Amino acid sequence: MTDTTTKRLKTFSGVKPSGGLHLGNYLGAIKRWVDDQDVYENVFCIVDLHAITVPQDPVALRQQTREVAAFYIAAGLNPARTIVFVQSHVSAHAELGWVLNCITPMGWLERMTQFKDKAAREGDNRERISTGLFDYPVLMASDILLYDANLVPVGDDQKQHVELTRDIAERVNRLYGDILVVPKPLIAETGARIMGLADPFKKMSKSDNLPGQAIGIFDKPEDIRKAIMRATTDSERTIVFDTNRPGLYNLLTIYQVLSGETREQIETRFEGKGYGDLKRTLADAVLDTLSPIQARCNSLLNSSDLDDLLRDGADRARVIADRTFNRVCTAMGLR
Ligand code: TRP
Repeated sequence: MTDTTTKRLKTFSGVKPSGGLHLGNYLGAIKRWVDDQDVYENVFCIVDLHAITVPQDPVALRQQTREVAAFYIAAGLNPARTIVFVQSHVSAHAELGWVLNCITPMGWLERMTQFKDKAAREGDNRERISTGLFDYPVLMASDILLYDANLVPVGDDQKQHVELTRDIAERVNRLYGDILVVPKPLIAETGARIMGLADPFKKMSKSDNLPGQAIGIFDKPEDIRKAIMRATTDSERTIVFDTNRPGLYNLLTIYQVLSGETREQIETRFEGKGYGDLKRTLADAVLDTLSPIQARCNSLLNSSDLDDLLRDGADRARVIADRTFNRVCTAMGLR
């Protein structure tokens, strides 16, 4: 379906309120959403229904959902012009998810590498993985398709899920008429994949339980500094962007995204300097960015304004989502 209602392209994206937000989420996703906020028509979601595909503690889930929402706004998403809401507050996500389940062949989901990796890690427990974890990409498709999103800004690990969303949308359009917008992934050139500081061969994640691997958004300044100073590098001397030196490359990429400088400018800046200088400069840059966001976040978390903003966001999201869901239902004979 071609969308002619606005000139600005529409985006939709979301972050799971589990595992804890880290610098990789901010630099790889949320910072870009903020930077491009005026370029697109945006909807950003805290995907709590995705979080429950693995067991969650209810108290922690509620708290983390508010934390991610506060972080979106503290990082600069403006709720007056960008829709920010919690997925479970808009019932059409689960409803369209069901309908799309009935259109999506199991084989398509069996091919998803993220599921295959997660299932492989479970080994003998594989049989106990929730149906929701297997089905998660269909719910994600429903998220995206409800808002007629043209573009889905995500890290490269989510590209396959956006491609599945395209396949599902095209199948619906083929079967029931031209009713869904077919989205494209929007993957940043730099920093789409921020790696861990301790093990730069793995994506930054808080669930690794590897000390110093991730910088938590709410970590204390001294812990952030310590993790950066201890980051794994190598025994070479030059400070240059070289993908064969993953630890250094990752630190430089983080610096590049934070500073907005070009690679040449950065290599010149650190010419003749050592890893210690680079790490100190990087730690300052990380703290200069995160500290004011942390302060704004804390004041939002302690205020009922946050809940009001989320209620308003859900009200606005619901209008759009219900309209799309009705369109699908009508086309399928469910109305
Ligand atoms: N699956 C995404 C992740 O793990 C989160 C997500 C859920 C999402 N629904 C989405 C991202 C819709 C983009 C669009 O990071």
